[in-house]
Amino acid sequence: MHCLTNLKDQQTPGVAPYIPQHIGIIMDGNGRWAKKRFLPRYVGHQKGRTAVKKVIQAAINRGVQALTLFAFSTENWRRPADEVSKLMGMFLTALQKEVDTLHKHNVRVRVIGDKHGFSPDIQTYIERAETLTQHNTALHLNIAANYGGRADIVNAVQAWQQANPDQTFAQLTPDAIQPFLSLSDLPEPDLLIRTGGEERISNFMIWQMAYAEFYFTSTLWPDFNEVEFDKALESFAKRQRRFGQTGEQVTQC
Ligand code: IPE
Ligand code: IPE
Ligand code: MG
Repeated sequence: MHCLTNLKDQQTPGVAPYIPQHIGIIMDGNGRWAKKRFLPRYVGHQKGRTAVKKVIQAAINRGVQALTLFAFSTENWRRPADEVSKLMGMFLTALQKEVDTLHKHNVRVRVIGDKHGFSPDIQTYIERAETLTQHNTALHLNIAANYGGRADIVNAVQAWQQANPDQTFAQLTPDAIQPFLSLSDLPEPDLLIRTGGEERISNFMIWQMAYAEFYFTSTLWPDFNEVEFDKALESFAKRQRRFGQTGEQVTQC
């Protein structure tokens, strides 16, 4: 029988609770959090920053290797100009204020998405953050900003073509594309958490999440914390990941 790699470790009874190697989070619900309090939407985004800090700490404490946070989608440019500008301002402030602390905590910071869409200031601070923290090992923290999963796939196909000018598209395979996708050096996300009650993927790492376990919660992002994070891990630990095999095959491995 063919046993898939890692399944044994993931599913051995008594090895509890299984911790995902890579978690993706769609941090949704900031606007509604603010609206419920008759506050402007940007206050919800500001509050969301506290939740981000809590989750980074929780991920380190639980031994998660990689955390990828969806902060701004390619589609979010469609929001009112004032909100977009506030979000960009907050992104810049976070890059200026938080990166040194993350570096002290041995966190490697990377930004995925089209960086050319940002102001020169933001691009400079992204570059600084990535260079400063490139050898850190406590956690891979990836911020998906101006990120879209479809664009990620198109870019990967184009990069494959450039790297393999002698090959034709008939030779293109999923394995051939994989090294050209964002974060191809990390294990694919095992767990996707989405806060805010919506149950959709909104163009987030659509290729890499092919076999991710999904966890949806109605908790709005600013209210998310260590306890909520642990609930997601608990749910993940109960899942049986089959990757196409039968339940019996997986338990026998
Ligand atoms: C997520 O919260 C943050 C971003 C998309 C930047 P939202 O701003 O989408 O909050 P809701 O969904 O309107 O409540
Ligand atoms: C997804 O949230 C993007 C981020 C959290 C950054 P949205 O609020 O933009 O998603 P939709 O539009 O409700 O699908
Ligand atoms: Mg939303």
